[in-house]
Amino acid sequence: MVLRLGILISGRGSNMESILRAIDGGEIQAEPRVVVSNNPDAPGLGIARELGVKTAVIPSRGFGGSRDQYDRMIADALFMHGVMPEDGLVCLAGFMRKIGDEFVGMYKNRILNIHPSLLPAFQGLAAQRQALEYGVWYSGCTVHFVDTGIDTGPIIMQALVPVKDGDTEESLSARILKEEHRIYPRVVDLFARDKIVLHNRSVTILD
Ligand code: GRF
Repeated sequence: MVLRLGILISGRGSNMESILRAIDGGEIQAEPRVVVSNNPDAPGLGIARELGVKTAVIPSRGFGGSRDQYDRMIADALFMHGVMPEDGLVCLAGFMRKIGDEFVGMYKNRILNIHPSLLPAFQGLAAQRQALEYGVWYSGCTVHFVDTGIDTGPIIMQALVPVKDGDTEESLSARILKEEHRIYPRVVDLFARDKIVLHNRSVTILD
């Protein structure tokens, strides 16, 4: 069966777009079933619709329940579109909420995230600014499995990006983003072809 994909976004959706375009272009054998946003105003929602992908909005702002209750609504949207824990894949693409333990356990090793730093450096928010402020010569991006921590799961792929003299948060972010758009679709393709093997924390790519 073709891998069924659910993508979770909160904003711009450029990583989502890079994955959807790679699927359209035949570079990834997967079926994008739904894009879910916690933010009703996420520009990525419009991009998904233009590309013919169903969308669901589950506003998190003002939601009074627990994290697990919120996540269950996300899971329901995924189920409704056939992205199941046994054989689906959930890609976080700029999804600005922590996923709770219950959801992580349900989709065990079937949730991916992209982070704009060379993890484990600069976890959390504003990773590019953290890198600049720290003074590193190189930063980059990381695609990893999602575990119950924030940006702590097993690393699948990384790309290195130089920090240049005079870089601003914007210029460094743009340089990193280019690499994000290159490696995230690649990892989804490898996942779809069952080429990613996980042993404890270490990942082997079988390509
Ligand atoms: C990207 O930099 C990604 O690494 C981070 O959030 C940003 C999302 O951008 N997790 P976009 O919504 O994919 O354009």
